[in-house]
Amino acid sequence: MKEIKIAQAPVFTSPNPMIFICTQKPTGKMNMATLAFWTYASTNPGKVVFSLNKGAYTLELLAKNKEVVIAVPGVSLAGALIACGTSSGRDTDKVEKFGVAMQKLGGTDIEVPKDTRLAIVASVCETVDADDHVLHICNVKNVYAEESIEAVFGWNGYGEFAAARKK
Ligand SMILES: Cc1cc2nc3c(=O)[nH]c(=O)nc-3n(C[C@H](O)[C@H](O)[C@H](O)COP(=O)(O)O)c2cc1C
Repeated sequence: MKEIKIAQAPVFTSPNPMIFICTQKPTGKMNMATLAFWTYASTNPGKVVFSLNKGAYTLELLAKNKEVVIAVPGVSLAGALIACGTSSGRDTDKVEKFGVAMQKLGGTDIEVPKDTRLAIVASVCETVDADDHVLHICNVKNVYAEESIEAVFGWNGYGEFAAARKK
């Protein structure tokens, strides 16, 4: 085996599942941040984890309001994944700027894109410093799924976004 850097490791785990971390700004508008660093952490009770870089506006929002929805996007949102991952909600209304059609869910005021395969409504219960990121451990409240929507994954690390089954 050849030795590589950790930043190159996602190339070897592709396709990598992608999410939007959906939160609400103090203005009531929605914010969406693209994340690759997330996973399930417990099933009983349900817990999920994700890691947020220290420059993210989402980090500030979650320090005040612990509520979050983790949305697994459909393939039509491949462009929005890049756009929401390279701009900040601090100075941009991403939903409006990138023309993302949204939908309401039960049990939360936070909206998610219409083209969402899986939505996990959760609240942050603990954070752990992880150097350039902060790990967020969340309690799952509700989970919604739409099996007709095909999820988008990161290929070649995060170099390309497409469905897991390349047709
Ligand atoms: C493909 C891709 C994957 C990303 N994964 C993460 C991640 O796992 N954690 C993270 O903190 N930021 C990740 N980012 C960067 C954030 O999406 C970016 O910092 C964004 O501006 C945060 O938005 P916000 O400032 O509105 O919170 C990723 C970006 C892209 C394009």
